[in-house]
Amino acid sequence: MTSFADPAKPDHVAIIMDGNGRWASGRGLKRIFGHRKGVEAVRRTVEAARLSGIRYLTLFAFSSENWKRPKDEVSDIMELISIFIHRELQNYHAQNMRFQMIGEREGLGPKVLGALEAAEHLTRGNTGLHVVVAVNYGSRAEIARAAVALAREAVDGRISPDEINEALISGRLDTAGIPDPDLIIRTSGEQRLSNFLMWQSAYSELVFLPCLWPEFSRDMFDEALREYARRTRRFGGVDEPASAMTGS
Ligand code: FPP
Repeated sequence: MTSFADPAKPDHVAIIMDGNGRWASGRGLKRIFGHRKGVEAVRRTVEAARLSGIRYLTLFAFSSENWKRPKDEVSDIMELISIFIHRELQNYHAQNMRFQMIGEREGLGPKVLGALEAAEHLTRGNTGLHVVVAVNYGSRAEIARAAVALAREAVDGRISPDEINEALISGRLDTAGIPDPDLIIRTSGEQRLSNFLMWQSAYSELVFLPCLWPEFSRDMFDEALREYARRTRRFGGVDEPASAMTGS
């Protein structure tokens, strides 16, 4: 799903928040301090997104590959996500924000899953900034789950295999109903997607920033939006005046 409400402004910004560990080790600190500082950058970014009027903000908080990290670091990140939700939920709800989690729920601890699901439940009717938190998320796993769902529907006779198309696949992803990201930002200087929204990013604009995630600021967010506004998006077609863009 792609939207073109204002071609100069992204409708959906997704962020790979990278560099917490390097921020900490560069200061002789344990990695957890980088993640803690990273939560402050999350708060600033949610506020920047809300004020800029974008509709969707997706944050890559924990990948399905991050389980390979030391046990202590994994539990610290899960704890930080739960605490963040507990602290901010009422405030975000009062600001009409909606929360949604994408990723594999199975395998998550009850505390973090409970916090994420409570946030989804409380804010499901809200119409302001839609914050999507990717936890235990990996694009390949998400696509594989969609394939299983479609295969089941075909075996049960609810769809014919010949009907399977891009829209049906999109509709079985965790992001069903959420427009594709217009802009993906990655901090820390790395230039790759790392199994993040690979189906959905087919036509996303990518902005790679050298700063480490804990340093990410409102100004950097605004600069990424300006960089986005300078890009010409053709979606495989040819340049058209912005007013002629209609969709898909
Ligand atoms: C990547 O940096 C960061 C993570 C894997 C964790 C991100 C988590 C947070 C910012 C805190 C909690 C999130 C929310 C939504 C409240 P890295 O550790 O891979 O850094 P490195 O590449 O420098 O080692």
